[in-house]
Amino acid sequence: MEVVIRQHEQQCGVTAADIIADAVACGATTLGLATGSSPLSVYRELIRRHRKGGLTFADVQAFLLDEYVGLPPGHPQSYAHVIRAEFTDHVGIASDRVHSPDGIAEDIFGAAQAYDALITDAGPIDVQLLGIGANGHIGFNEPGDELASRTHRVKLADSTRRDNAGLFAGDISKVPREALSMGMGTILKAATVILIATGERKAQCVEQMVHGAVTPRLPASFLQLHRDVELYLDHSAASRLSPRSRP
Ligand code: F6R
Repeated sequence: MEVVIRQHEQQCGVTAADIIADAVACGATTLGLATGSSPLSVYRELIRRHRKGGLTFADVQAFLLDEYVGLPPGHPQSYAHVIRAEFTDHVGIASDRVHSPDGIAEDIFGAAQAYDALITDAGPIDVQLLGIGANGHIGFNEPGDELASRTHRVKLADSTRRDNAGLFAGDISKVPREALSMGMGTILKAATVILIATGERKAQCVEQMVHGAVTPRLPASFLQLHRDVELYLDHSAASRLSPRSRP
């Protein structure tokens, strides 16, 4: 894992945006995208460069990591809606090139399989952007006894629902209990993985991800098995890393 430490969140975003912009300029056509607060600085920077001119996403298809089960795509907190509002609509990626698991399908199992098939057909994903949950989740692969490899239905951890309640007017009862998420196998197939983590709350899971054992108890630890993972951390998130792993 390559560790890049910056003073501020915004600088992490700019540095990570360099990698994505270079990849797109060199012909990358498939991006795996995360929602949540961590990638926002990356999206802001990519939007800025697109508006300034020179960075086009015309050939890009985007694949979301996950989607809540039961929220219609127009719901303000559905990830299909969020990614358009925060990124893809602003850089000219047409909505039919932005893909997400279908969280309102009657056949959720079939929807998960169909999403994997779509990624396999278009993929492998060139650059996968990730955040990390404070409990070590990646996508919505929550800690447990085992991990699914492919897109699957997940029960969200109570801590994850609490963390996300702020976006649902602080009411945890409004946060869906389930989601569809790419599996770790799907995520690990991406050519390059970029993870952004900022703030003190992420320090412990970042330490375990980098220094701990590879275990389904901390899904992020599986990133140790990938040969091109870049971690963009601010000083707080990196505060528990051993000096040896710091650049
Ligand atoms: C979002 C996702 C999650 C988030 C994680 C961190 O699509 O898959 O794994 O990346 O929950 O969320 P933030 O960035 O809001 O701390």
